[in-house]
Amino acid sequence: MDLYEYQARDMFESYGVPVLPGIIADTPAEARAAAEKLGGVVVVKAQVKVGGRGKAGGVKVAKNPDEAEAAAEAILGLDIKGHVVKRVMIAAGARITEEYYFSVLLDRANRSYLSLSSFEGGMEIEQLAEERPEALARIEVNPISGIDLAKAKEIAVAAKFPAELIDKVAPVMVKLYEVYTGEDATLVEVNPLVLTEEGDIVALDGKVSLDENAAFRHPNHEALEDKAAADPLEAKAKAMDLNYVKLDGQVGIIGNGAGLVMSTLDVVAYAGEKHGGVKPANFLDIGGGASAEVMANGLEVILGDSQVKSVFVNVFGGITACDAVANGIVAALEILGSSASKPLVVRLDGNNVEEGRRILAEANHPLVTLAAGMDEGADKAAELAAK
Ligand SMILES: Nc1ncnc2c1ncn2[C@@H]1O[C@H](COP(=O)(O)OP(=O)(O)O)[C@@H](O)[C@H]1O
Ligand SMILES: [Mg+2]
Repeated sequence: MDLYEYQARDMFESYGVPVLPGIIADTPAEARAAAEKLGGVVVVKAQVKVGGRGKAGGVKVAKNPDEAEAAAEAILGLDIKGHVVKRVMIAAGARITEEYYFSVLLDRANRSYLSLSSFEGGMEIEQLAEERPEALARIEVNPISGIDLAKAKEIAVAAKFPAELIDKVAPVMVKLYEVYTGEDATLVEVNPLVLTEEGDIVALDGKVSLDENAAFRHPNHEALEDKAAADPLEAKAKAMDLNYVKLDGQVGIIGNGAGLVMSTLDVVAYAGEKHGGVKPANFLDIGGGASAEVMANGLEVILGDSQVKSVFVNVFGGITACDAVANGIVAALEILGSSASKPLVVRLDGNNVEEGRRILAEANHPLVTLAAGMDEGADKAAELAAK
């Protein structure tokens, strides 16, 4: 889960990372009030989970409350790379003398943590990495020892901070690492980290990604979720603990195992080309050991998608044998009753397939068609969706 800048700012503050005061506003009038409260020059900043807000017109300096109101007026509703701005943060204006870059992230490829840091900030990090790779220090961080003051100094030296700044910037890096581990983040990025005219190091922008696998250790993280921005079907699936991703098609997909579901998407997309270009409507992996209840939940979510015209259930029986899956489908259709209203194509294979097919044939549900193989099932489901 990615945080908004204002959430990252609050989190930084609670760990003692130097930040500037910031107040969120959802209307121009609130922006004016916030600017009045902060006093002096402020910066009105779009709160969207995408970088490059500055260049897109989403960060504006305002010298007084009038200007803050006008800036909020201009920024609220702005579309930044497909993200519509619904909220701004009014931040105290910094008098910047220099901009730097610092991040620490999970380095999956090396099964370690990595810190990226540069004395030359103020540029998109991707651009810096490409154009001036020598200016970007990549220092591995051992997850056991982490970033203590000595390590932070090593990073600062590698990032080419001048000697007189190292003692200033290193403690901030240590604090940012405390945010990273303390909150079970996979990314903490500050771009820019600045030096002000007053000689202070301040984190002016913050990007934090939290590891949802660690959510059980952080009951307070749930409140950071932007439930309103989530797709309602995805939110419902999440509440049911289902691995569901909504896509823009007409054939609902249920499978067990991420690999099988991914290939089912491909096969359905391919079959759809012959049937008026219908496409898979979702990714849904009900996993191994799927009970009737899980099957019913999965079907309920998929049938709740008004774009869906047919459903392809593609299950390979393993630990959960096909007869259990077939019983699950029959029970799920019973649970759903009249709300199951769209044709279902079922392909079963693997452990105890004969018995599974027999159960479905015997149930003889009017909505269910049995397919002998994956290609055939995909073709049938696409054909039904195209009708
Ligand atoms: N509080 C602030 N005071 C002064 N300048 C700021 C402030 N916040 C941002 N800026 C300036 O705007 C630029 C872009 O803002 P930033 O928060 O990094 O957004 P983004 O990375 O999405 O473009 C910064 O590099 C900095 O120069
Ligand atoms: Mg930035």
